[in-house]
Amino acid sequence: MLKDAYGRQIRYLRVSVTDRCNLRCLYCSQKAFEWLPPEDILSYEEIYEVVSAAVELGVERVRLTGGEPLIRKGLPELIRRLAAIPGLKDLSLTTNGLRLKELASELKAAGLKRVNVSLDTLRPERFRELTGLDGLSKVLAGIDAALSVGLSPVKINMVVLRGFNEDEIEEMAKLTFEKPVHVRFIEFMPVGEGAGWNEERWMPLFEIRKRVESVGSLYPTVSEGGGPAKSFRFAGAKGAVGFIAAMSEHFCARCNRLRLTPEGKLRFCLFSDREFDLKPYLSQGREVLKKILVESVKEKPASRLEGHLPRRLMRSIGG
Ligand code: GTP
Ligand code: 5AD
Ligand code: SF4
Repeated sequence: MLKDAYGRQIRYLRVSVTDRCNLRCLYCSQKAFEWLPPEDILSYEEIYEVVSAAVELGVERVRLTGGEPLIRKGLPELIRRLAAIPGLKDLSLTTNGLRLKELASELKAAGLKRVNVSLDTLRPERFRELTGLDGLSKVLAGIDAALSVGLSPVKINMVVLRGFNEDEIEEMAKLTFEKPVHVRFIEFMPVGEGAGWNEERWMPLFEIRKRVESVGSLYPTVSEGGGPAKSFRFAGAKGAVGFIAAMSEHFCARCNRLRLTPEGKLRFCLFSDREFDLKPYLSQGREVLKKILVESVKEKPASRLEGHLPRRLMRSIGG
């Protein structure tokens, strides 16, 4: 079993399959364009080994992230292999949605259960300003494609930035009346040296929530995932809304996660740059790898360090 030094059992592994991305979101990868050398990136075989070992140790959920996971070649093949691992209950993916329309049915057929799509604005011009690309209609088509092939629930991630997209909170919440999507409002987090962190852009959850409640009363609901989101529903809505407040709420005590970076480092906390290099152990067989996982997980910190800015970019951690 994977249990950390504070008794928290690890059941959720986030695997970043690439640090590359086809967008340049201001809050994520602004200015910093150094990529990991391609030869350092784990092969699908190596990722399969780590995930298999983790599942044998009690991990039940795996999420593929990036960068943008859908730009890595042959991803459906990795999904097919991971989906066949006995004991894995939930296999999901976080994407910016640009390539989702063309890949949705292939991903579903490969065994992917569901997708979370980043979408911070419904205005084409604003989308371009935030991401550097004129791609809003593609993302919307990707969300519809995911819904139509049954990659559900489809969750939408909106990072709320004060003075930038806060005026769209209500509109995004209303999407849940039109489509069976789960719209999550995310507090802006200070992750990554050179990313666009700006305290003035930070909007605390209580303010975000007040605006969502102006649309209608919220009723608590449960959502597939087991992550940090708290979920609610409006009466009569097809979908749900959720809140992820990494800054103003402290969910560290119930954190059940571990992250694997594209080049094979275990990362114990989104906010801590402490990492453990698994690469030297990848060729030593499943049992050695399991032993190393059990030992290294003791390095997971009790909680995030207040006021500490992790240096590594979100793009190469996977959120
Ligand atoms: P599910 O619960 O499996 O649907 O996924 P999720 O909501 O955890 O994943 P997703 O990739 O959609 O991430 C949504 C937001 O939650 C992103 O902004 C992540 O950075 C953030 N997030 C995910 N895990 C953690 C965590 O352990 N700590 C913090 N602070 N934020 C997290
Ligand atoms: N703060 C909060 N969320 C972020 N994401 C990326 N950077 C940040 C940040 N600085 C979100 C993306 C994506 C998820 C994996 O992380 O919107 O949906
Ligand atoms: Fe790419 Fe996601 Fe970062 Fe945007 S937030 S630049 S889509 S990795």
